[in-house]
Amino acid sequence: MKLTGKERVLAALLGATAALAVTALILILVEATSVRLPTDTKFGIVFDAGSSHTSLFVYRWPADKENDTGVVSQALACKVEGPGISSYTSNPAQAGESLRGCLEEALAVIPEAQRPQTPLFLGATAGMRLLSQKNSSQAGDIFAAVTQVLGQAPLDFRGAELLASQDEGALGWITINYVLGLLVKYSFSGEWIRPPEGTLVGALDMGGASTQITFVPGGPVLDKSTQAAFRLYGFEHSVYTHSYLCFGRDQMLTRLLAGLLQSRQALRVRHPCYHSGYRGTVSLAPLYESPCVQATAPPGLPQSLTVEGTGNPRACVSATRGLFNFSSCEGREDCAFNGVYQPPVRGQFYAFSSFFHTFHFLNLTSRQSLATVNATVWDFCQKPWKLVEAAWPGQQPWLRDHCASGLYMLTLLLEGYGFTEETWPSIEFRKQAGGTDIGWALGYMLNLTNMIPAEVPAQWRAESYGVWVASVVFVALTLAAILAAAAAQLLWARD
Ligand SMILES: *[C@@H]1O[C@H](CO)[C@@H](O)[C@H](O)[C@H]1NC(C)=O
Ligand SMILES: *[C@@H]1O[C@H](CO)[C@@H](O)[C@H](O)[C@H]1NC(C)=O
Ligand SMILES: *[C@@H]1O[C@H](CO)[C@@H](O)[C@H](O)[C@H]1NC(C)=O
Ligand SMILES: *[C@@H]1O[C@H](CO)[C@@H](O)[C@H](O)[C@H]1NC(C)=O
Ligand SMILES: *[C@@H]1O[C@H](CO)[C@@H](O)[C@H](O)[C@H]1NC(C)=O
Repeated sequence: MKLTGKERVLAALLGATAALAVTALILILVEATSVRLPTDTKFGIVFDAGSSHTSLFVYRWPADKENDTGVVSQALACKVEGPGISSYTSNPAQAGESLRGCLEEALAVIPEAQRPQTPLFLGATAGMRLLSQKNSSQAGDIFAAVTQVLGQAPLDFRGAELLASQDEGALGWITINYVLGLLVKYSFSGEWIRPPEGTLVGALDMGGASTQITFVPGGPVLDKSTQAAFRLYGFEHSVYTHSYLCFGRDQMLTRLLAGLLQSRQALRVRHPCYHSGYRGTVSLAPLYESPCVQATAPPGLPQSLTVEGTGNPRACVSATRGLFNFSSCEGREDCAFNGVYQPPVRGQFYAFSSFFHTFHFLNLTSRQSLATVNATVWDFCQKPWKLVEAAWPGQQPWLRDHCASGLYMLTLLLEGYGFTEETWPSIEFRKQAGGTDIGWALGYMLNLTNMIPAEVPAQWRAESYGVWVASVVFVALTLAAILAAAAAQLLWARD
């Protein structure tokens, strides 16, 4: 059979189309099989040893995606019974024992075969930082006791340590931005690009003993002691971070009470931040044992004192303001309080831990305006104790402290950090993001297991190259099909 010129063209086109189709099929199959490799799940465990309590978190992720962003999820959160490990000074062994319950729960989540490869960390924060300042041998005994218990677990125990204060803030910042998937973006043109300016979320953390603020400032960080810099997925990040020791919730309450005692030489103390009608006793020895309380006990003070609430938010604000040294920042734009350098706050913030708990109790986590927030806290402070007790039964002993905490946090955020009516809506009060508790723990594990590579993983580049090839083939195929159809049309039209 002799082909005409047009028929030859048609045959060539059909041949080319078939070849392209086969190529595309092969590429697609290769892609599909590489995706369908068996995916093992890996695990990691972190004990967050805070000043008031210890929490355990179990994280899990698909083994073959371990360097990707946002793939780690929380498999378990367990609250250790009893106080923070720093409280076990008279019986350090008990600090180790207290961790066993949660450790058992964690082991139940992890398949036996995986346990020897599962990293286990314990990080301690401000409670232990204060104890090491006060009596480093006691702190050492506690670390030895927890190390002994965790070292016996059938896991890959990597050690118990005190976190550096700047790391605590920076790791919380990494956790949030990792979970929200903000650290790296994939552009249309097939490149990994730096997250756009101002999209990264700042971190406001408050524990029992310290509070941290971390964000990307608008300009350079002038005081290098407040700067943390790291390279994540190929991009340099420089954040401002500072940790204020003794400005955590519990130490603030202790300092507040000590301040009220100094100004009144009586056996009864009238506390403006406690609700009117509240009456309770406080023992004084633990108060003056805190390294955050500068004053020594006034002479002749009894072992315990009666505290009576007056429910006066104005006086409470003025008492909490006394915990800050604002005058040391007078006339300086880039200063928060106590002489600490801080550039102006910038961008979105997540406020978590005690910030969240207090604002959650007050129903103020749905982005209410500053005016509403203020009015709600003041109203709550003025509620008589009788009504408060009746409305939230069984919530002692913390119930009396929400008013003080709320007013203190407002003072810290507004007068301390410099949030205003305009920037207030940029603060979101959150406990979790994407099912994971926000805190330093996840960032700590990611950092110590090198799961956030400094550079974009080569595998991602290969994947995006694969996608590019597949796209080109697809476009070519479509063009060929159109040409073939056009040719066929011509041929049949001639017949
Ligand atoms: C993750 O990155 C590390 C170092 O960059 C590399 O050694 C490891 O093989 C990577 N893991 C996977 C699953 O890609
Ligand atoms: C630290 O604690 C140990 C044991 O509790 C005690 O013997 C020692 O005197 C303390 N040291 C200081 C400086 O308080
Ligand atoms: C990450 O871990 C390294 C030690 O491996 C440490 O030097 C560094 O400070 C950590 N980074 C942060 C932000 O904590
Ligand atoms: C506040 O800080 C300034 C400067 O650091 C200091 O001189 C002053 O004594 C401090 N005030 C109080 C009440 O501690
Ligand atoms: C928060 O809201 C709940 C339900 O609407 C209410 O029962 C509770 O009293 C509120 N709490 C405060 C502190 O107003």
